[in-house]
Amino acid sequence: MPYEPGLALVERDEDGVDTAFRADVLDGLAQAHKAIPARWLYDDVGSQLFEDITQLPEYYPTRSETEILKARANAIAEAVGRGRAVVEFGSGSSVKTPLLLEAIDPAAYVPLDIAGDFLRASAKELGKKFPGLPVHPVEADFMRRVELPKAIEAMPKLGFFPGSTIGNMVARTAVDLLRSMRETLGVGAQLLIGMDLIKDSNVLEAAYDDAAGITAEFNRNLVRRVNRQLKGDIPLEALRHEARWNDEHARIEMHLVAERPVAFSVAGKSFALAEGESIHTENSHKFSRRTSYMLLLAGGWEPQARWLDSEERFSLLLAEAKAPRNAP
Ligand code: AVI
Repeated sequence: MPYEPGLALVERDEDGVDTAFRADVLDGLAQAHKAIPARWLYDDVGSQLFEDITQLPEYYPTRSETEILKARANAIAEAVGRGRAVVEFGSGSSVKTPLLLEAIDPAAYVPLDIAGDFLRASAKELGKKFPGLPVHPVEADFMRRVELPKAIEAMPKLGFFPGSTIGNMVARTAVDLLRSMRETLGVGAQLLIGMDLIKDSNVLEAAYDDAAGITAEFNRNLVRRVNRQLKGDIPLEALRHEARWNDEHARIEMHLVAERPVAFSVAGKSFALAEGESIHTENSHKFSRRTSYMLLLAGGWEPQARWLDSEERFSLLLAEAKAPRNAP
C-alpha cells in the first residue's frame, strides 16, 4: 500500500461502508475547493492501477530509484554498514526491497503496514528470497509510533521509505510522519528515503498524464468507488483527468475537472460542480536538495548522504536520528 496515512482499524456502518471514507468524501465535497484525500485512490483496483503506472514509459520515479539502488549499492552499503535491522514503512516492493537487502546484508527485516493480508503475503515472498534472514512483519499504522519486535531491540536500525510517498503528504503531515519514524526507530537510527526532484513541468505532467491513459483511469477509479460504495451518481463521463504543476507549492496535482456543469448526489447529499471546477484528488510534491534537507531536519533527521540517478530525476537520501543538542 503506497499511501495509507492516518488509517486505524477500519470501522464500517450497517451497510458495510467504511465510515472514514464516507466522512472524508462528504467533507471534501462540501469544501469551496472540492478535494478527496489521496489515500482513497488505493482500493484493490486502484492499487493494481498504481502497479501498472510504475511500468509506464512516462512514469520515471520507480525506474530512477531502482537505478540508484543498483548503481549505488556499494556506497549505500558503506554508509549504512552491515547487521542493521531494516524497518520498511509499507509492505515492501518486490524489486526495491531485495536490492537494498542484498546490498547491505542486514540482521533482520521488519515490514510495517496497516494492510495485514498484503503485508503477510509480501513478507512470505521475501522470506523465500532471503532464507537466512529473520523477517518480522508488523501490522500497524506507521503514521504513529510503532512498537517494534523485541527480537530487533538491540540491533542498529535502518528505516526504509522509498517511492517518494512522502511527497504525497502536505508538509505538516510529512513532518509528523518523519517525527513518528524517529520515535519508532530511536536515536542513532538511519533512514533511507526516496524524494522525487523538481524538474521540467512537461516531464512531470506527462508522468502523471500518460499517453495510455492509465493514470487517468487511476484517478477516475476514485469516482467509481464513490458511486459504488457511497451510492453516488457522479457523471464520470463529464469529468476529465488533469495533472497540473503547481509551481508555488512545487507539486503535481491530480484533478477531475468538470467539462460541463454537473449536479450529483453522494450518500444522500447534493453537490454541484460548475464547468471547469474540479475535485482535487492528489498532491505529489517534488523537492530540491535544500527543500529535501529542510524537510528531513524538521522531522528530526540529519542528512548524511544523497544519491541521484544518471538523469538526475530522483533522489535517495540517507539521514540519521542524532541525539538532540542545543543549537545557537
Ligand atoms: C505513490 N506515489 C508516490 C505516487 C506519486 O508519484 O505521487 C502516486 C501516483 N499518482 C499518480 N501516479 C502515481
